[in-house]
Amino acid sequence: MEVVLRGVRGSIAVPAPAMSFYGGNTSCVELRSDSGALVFFDAGTGLREAGENLPESGTCHLFISHGHTDHIQGLGFFRPLHSPRWTTHIYIPAWLENVLDDHFAHGMFPIPFSDFGGNVVRHCLEAGDEVSPAADVSVSAIAANHPGGALSYKVRADSAVFLYTGDYEITQAPNVRKAAREMLEGVDLAVVDSMYSKSSYMEGWGHSCWEDWRDLAQDVGPGCIVLSHHSPDMTDKQIDELQREALQSCHLQGLHLCFAREGMRFSLPMVKERSCTDCGLVQYSDWLDRFLDGLLQYQDENTLLDRILAKAREITRADAGTIFLVDGEDLLFAYTHNDSLFSVNTASKFAYSSARLPINPHSIAGYAAFTGEMLNLADVRALPPGMPFSFREDFDKATGYHTESMLVVPFHDHAGRVSGVMQLINSLDPRTGKPRKFTHDMERHIRVLAREIANILERSHLVRASINRLIRLASVHDPLETGPHAERVGAIAAEMYQIRANQLNLDPDVTLHVKSQIRLAAMLHDIGKVGVSDLLIKKPGKLTDEEMAVMRSHTMIGAGILEAEAQSGGFMTFARDIAHHHHQKWNGQGYAGPSNAGRLAGEEIPIAARITAIADVFDALVSPRSYKAAWPHSKALALLREEAGSHFDPHLVACLEEIIDVVAKIYERFPDAEPEQPNREPAA
Ligand code: C2E
Ligand code: SIN
Ligand code: SIN
Ligand code: FE
Ligand code: FE
Repeated sequence: MEVVLRGVRGSIAVPAPAMSFYGGNTSCVELRSDSGALVFFDAGTGLREAGENLPESGTCHLFISHGHTDHIQGLGFFRPLHSPRWTTHIYIPAWLENVLDDHFAHGMFPIPFSDFGGNVVRHCLEAGDEVSPAADVSVSAIAANHPGGALSYKVRADSAVFLYTGDYEITQAPNVRKAAREMLEGVDLAVVDSMYSKSSYMEGWGHSCWEDWRDLAQDVGPGCIVLSHHSPDMTDKQIDELQREALQSCHLQGLHLCFAREGMRFSLPMVKERSCTDCGLVQYSDWLDRFLDGLLQYQDENTLLDRILAKAREITRADAGTIFLVDGEDLLFAYTHNDSLFSVNTASKFAYSSARLPINPHSIAGYAAFTGEMLNLADVRALPPGMPFSFREDFDKATGYHTESMLVVPFHDHAGRVSGVMQLINSLDPRTGKPRKFTHDMERHIRVLAREIANILERSHLVRASINRLIRLASVHDPLETGPHAERVGAIAAEMYQIRANQLNLDPDVTLHVKSQIRLAAMLHDIGKVGVSDLLIKKPGKLTDEEMAVMRSHTMIGAGILEAEAQSGGFMTFARDIAHHHHQKWNGQGYAGPSNAGRLAGEEIPIAARITAIADVFDALVSPRSYKAAWPHSKALALLREEAGSHFDPHLVACLEEIIDVVAKIYERFPDAEPEQPNREPAA
């Protein structure tokens, strides 16, 4: 059987953001036996969502623990109760026979319960009764210690035992403890009322403390106890804290306790010797805070997108994923992963796709951006009828990849506008390795992550804005020092570094970090040209030796501009080194200023500068200059190869060669902006 928690709050639904990880809906548990019998326990507000994705017709069984509103408030919004093609068996404590009719009477709901359109079969239960909603499922009713009375339910199906307590107060009274202990006997999974902890316990209010369940579990040693019916004032962070405390005390005793989270899913019988993580136990602040802290070291957008996508895929077990960013009227393919097609830790041409999708409802990602809605599609080739979009097969056709399930999440900027879309593909079933539909729980995690994307990217935008400002300044002076030129040199340098780091077996996390810094730093390599007369820079034709000596000073000037910020570390240190040394030569015949002073050779030259030297010359060669036409990539590469060992570090030239297909994509992605550069000289 499979058990899904649909509502884990007590008292009243709390849809607040601070509660959204553990969930704000009131009590409801869904159980499905292996043969497909569908059973619900309690009809709190969690029942509504459970009814949304059911087929057009069917039969289900709903066991009510008692009539307090947090256990029945979802009833009126449960779709099967309004469909003549559904039959719902409702099992209710005998003394509450009229509670359903009363709940919908007196104008408290638009229609009386008896007028609901679905077929309802009512059953009354007393403690000790046992019923069989399906041939393979038996449910027995147990008296619960709760003011006004309540029933707990014990289910036997598929060689497993499941217990749902509804509301239940474990007091110090020996008979109460004995009854509770007996109830737990032989149970594989119990979803129990633990509204309180010892410090917040309200005696006589009808609810238990998690510590009492722990103590009983110690006596009985049952399977897993899921502490539910959280108090409505418990925030995600507070539940996390309880969880941490509970885990500490339980691990010592080999007990298995966790705090209920909406969407949590359990398969029974459970594998023995499970760890708490097997039952989906993940702490909100733990994973999110840890993730966000880990990102603080990165300032480069590509790296941040890479990390966000990696996290989203870890959470959803997605084989592949893409992040699109809104760019004008379009979605721009910004970053992609695909375990089946390429490894993430390598230079990838897919990282520089220049594909665009218009923001309209005709494509899947376009629809998510257009409407701001999340889409969870079980199979993109069998879309629900009436959808305005269809799946575009081009990518699958071109790569041989088979896209099946998809979770598509838009994310927003601070003004609430959609700023991008994350598309996760093929959630792999850990047992079979085959794609399956993304779960409700995954959706919720991804929503939490999506909320953070604007904040995460904002930091990179600030850094970007200051880099772009510097580059614009330089381009007033030198029309060739444009944004696209800087982007290309940065991207080529970053990907070359990745290849070299892989060859040297450097730590992947460190590599990612350095790579992200080199990308930004290399963009600023020629910033010192702002200090050279623009008459010289714009001079058509060859420079004289004297003119060239002046030109060479751009390296020192650049290093000087970046020096102050280089002191504080980070990518600015790389930027200063690159600006200073990008015209050094491997054989020691280069320059780092107007004279020959300060020449370095070989590995004395910082690696980031050696890499940028290659990326810069490659870009200069394949771009038009006033003194020469643009060369084809092959010719530029041939020259670099010729000068490997003299001008250039031969290992690094080999790295460029290895990624020459990625380089081609980089040129498609960052083409030179056409004309209307105010200062552009006609090519001589
Ligand atoms: P840049 O145009 O961005 O070129 C960067 C580097 O690419 C040059 O560094 C050089 O190593 C290489 N490079 C560029 N064009 C060619 C070429 O046609 N053949 C070969 N073999 N290599 C090439 P370099 O020489 O230290 O020059 C630094 C900067 O000085 C250049 O940046 C450019 O702004 C300027 N510059 C250099 N030579 C001339 C020239 O003859 N005329 C003008 N107007 N500017 C020049
Ligand atoms: C979970 O329920 O915690 C993860 C989703 C799943 O494995 O189905
Ligand atoms: C995590 O990444 O640690 C949380 C997501 C999950 O596995 O449910
Ligand atoms: Fe209650
Ligand atoms: Fe330069």
